[in-house]
Amino acid sequence: AYLAYCPAARASCAAKNSGRCNNHIRKNEPKVVDMIDVEDIAEKAAFCRCWKTKNWPYCDGSHGEHNKQTGDNVGPIVIKK
Ligand code: FES
Repeated sequence: AYLAYCPAARASCAAKNSGRCNNHIRKNEPKVVDMIDVEDIAEKAAFCRCWKTKNWPYCDGSHGEHNKQTGDNVGPIVIKK
């Protein structure tokens, strides 16, 4: 079973001015798509939805600084088995 994960679908994603939310993740690709087999998730995994993580597609806590600087309220999606 595969989980199609598309954080770009989030409404709050658009950055001010450019309309872009992805500033550094795999910018050489026309579209960032990740396929994760649910069977490969141990007990739970947190996936980034803010596009600020340095460990894509996983949350590394960078959303906290983003929220602090922008007043946003984004956070990860947590998948549990
Ligand atoms: Fe992006 Fe946590 S680092 S949601």
